Amino acid sequence: MAFPLRFTYENCLESAVGKDGIGRPDLDAAQCAAAVRAFRGRVDSGAIGFPQLPEDRGTASAVAEFADDLREELDYVCVVGIGGSALGAYALDVAMRGPHPVQTSPGGKPNGKSRAARPQLVVLDNIDPGLVAAALERMNPRRTAVCVIAKSGSTAESLATFLIVREWLAGALGKRNRERIIAVTDPQKGDLLQIAQAERYPLFFVPPAVGGRFSVLSTVGLVPAALLGLDIAKLLRGARDANAACWSEKLDDNPALLSAAVHHALDTRRGKKIEIVYAYSSFLWGAAFWYRQLWAESLGKRVNRKGEVVETGQTPIAALGVTDQHSQSQLYMEGPRDKMITFWEVEKPRTELRIPKDFAKYDSCGYLGGKTLGQLFRAERVATEAALTEAGRPNCRWTLPRVDEYTIGALFQTLEFQTAFAGELYGVDAFDQPGVELGKKLTYGLMGRKGYEEYAKRLKGAK
Ligand code: PA5
Repeated sequence: MAFPLRFTYENCLESAVGKDGIGRPDLDAAQCAAAVRAFRGRVDSGAIGFPQLPEDRGTASAVAEFADDLREELDYVCVVGIGGSALGAYALDVAMRGPHPVQTSPGGKPNGKSRAARPQLVVLDNIDPGLVAAALERMNPRRTAVCVIAKSGSTAESLATFLIVREWLAGALGKRNRERIIAVTDPQKGDLLQIAQAERYPLFFVPPAVGGRFSVLSTVGLVPAALLGLDIAKLLRGARDANAACWSEKLDDNPALLSAAVHHALDTRRGKKIEIVYAYSSFLWGAAFWYRQLWAESLGKRVNRKGEVVETGQTPIAALGVTDQHSQSQLYMEGPRDKMITFWEVEKPRTELRIPKDFAKYDSCGYLGGKTLGQLFRAERVATEAALTEAGRPNCRWTLPRVDEYTIGALFQTLEFQTAFAGELYGVDAFDQPGVELGKKLTYGLMGRKGYEEYAKRLKGAK
């Protein structure tokens, strides 16, 4: 199948938005081609592995087979992980199963519809005790599989939650808790690997060259997705079709490269330090949060590859259309000219609803009756884009024909390529995150971890 997404950026051009827009010469074709070659070099050297994930059909079938055997026994899939180890599963779940109240609850048909009940996803990516306690109260341990996911195998938040959830599971299942804990981690190192091996948990590996926020199409996303009943083969097919489009060195043939170039030019040449990701689909809300991490953590860097201080990176903000038209759009239209907007549009809504012709004598109802809710949804997105353009606010758009495993797989892969190319254009390492290390070490110090006494001293007196 051909690449299913469309990237449109006419409303980022000077001809559309005036001085805040870019011109075609701002998109340097030679620099972009060099970015593709440089990134290809990193992939070929084995340092970066996400582009190859969709080719790994063996892992996908092993995961699918494992999940098919277990799914019937489950009402809940509980992901214990954080950052890149949780956001992909969340994004997939929202994309395919919908946000609350769309989802079917375990064991029943709460929305009065005939869809078969499937396990529900519970993501424990925060350590607020109230959140974890409520989740444990809600889930039935006899009908729950726990996916403990940590690439490093040592993340404090994930391990603390894991210990609590494991105790809860063991309280109900005794030694059989082992059959319901699935570990996803690095194949070579980390405490989670050792624990999983010692306890003989079902174990899936994340390829060492695949970092957290680029791992949704590895076992990190595939294991929970398959347990939830999603078609992971279709997901990878979408990503493979994205691969075919995303390796071209020609700007106009490579949507990920073009999008990276547009973002980079708007930031570095027109001061658009903030990107609003305006998702016009409730089903893409999770993906917007997934992308927020990808863009922020990859490009927000103090130094470039030469070691020079650059303090670079756009700040991504997730917004939901149409909801945030009544919350955020005022700022985007008239506030500081430091933003670009990226619309995520879905051509075909999952379902359609006709607006009744009732109360037709009232002006506010009459013109709506007989039209569809999808028509209004689309009109509002078109109008918001037009209004922003008229106000001189640059905006571009990704269009998905529909939201399903195939298109969402293509979207994930394309945006990962976009991020990798942007890293090359900014000259930073998009695959590390040194800025979060100090906070982690100070936490270890405060919590009394061996070897971190010096950090505890630095915080003496901190409340
Ligand atoms: O993108 C990243 O590498 C991070 O956001 C990680 O995903 C996050 O810190 C969690 O790491 P781990 O999977 O080791 O628990």
